[in-house]
Amino acid sequence: PLQVIAVTVVGYLLGAIPFAVIIAKRHGVDIMKEGSGNPGATNVTRSVGKRAGNFCFVMDFLKGLAAAGIPLLPFMGASDPIGLGVLGLIAAIIGHSYSVFIGFKGGKGVAVTMGGLLALAPIILIIGLIVWVGVFYSSKYVSLASLCFGISLPVLGIGFEKPAVLIIFLVGIAVLIVFRHRANIQRLFAGTEHRFSKDKKNAK
Ligand code: G3P
Repeated sequence: PLQVIAVTVVGYLLGAIPFAVIIAKRHGVDIMKEGSGNPGATNVTRSVGKRAGNFCFVMDFLKGLAAAGIPLLPFMGASDPIGLGVLGLIAAIIGHSYSVFIGFKGGKGVAVTMGGLLALAPIILIIGLIVWVGVFYSSKYVSLASLCFGISLPVLGIGFEKPAVLIIFLVGIAVLIVFRHRANIQRLFAGTEHRFSKDKKNAK
């Protein structure tokens, strides 16, 4: 019970650290007003540069890894480590997407999810990453790659006969990732979504 509260609160607060906002600000950029306006690694890459974007991805990834991974450590003595790790990651994704530090706004949770899955379901993460990379390099749309990654997670969870708690969680993540990308989905259908290419001028 105390553990459940601690993992939820720590997970939420870790997730809520708005690395995209902090990193962009150091470069004089208001990330909520540039590019897609999304405080995530993709928009930092777009609006600040590749190095800053990669750094943002790593930091957001580590938030998820810590939130899901710490509860799995033996010294925590959890009776259900996977359940507790899943809870930590859910809290971190919610913290990242609805951060108390930036008026309950936030990113789309893809990097955080990837970090958490490294601790909870590494094989699913690796295959999901292959999906992400394949879609991104063939389409040049980060959002489409992230959507396919999200949707692949519950499918892979079922395929690998993972425990029910994990599959339900993966369904929840897929739904949340699709929901958080609703503006991207509209832009994809309208043909106005930003495409990463060597020509960086059409950033939006
Ligand atoms: O993970 C976020 C990515 O899929 C889309 O980011 O900035 O293009 O909305 P953005």
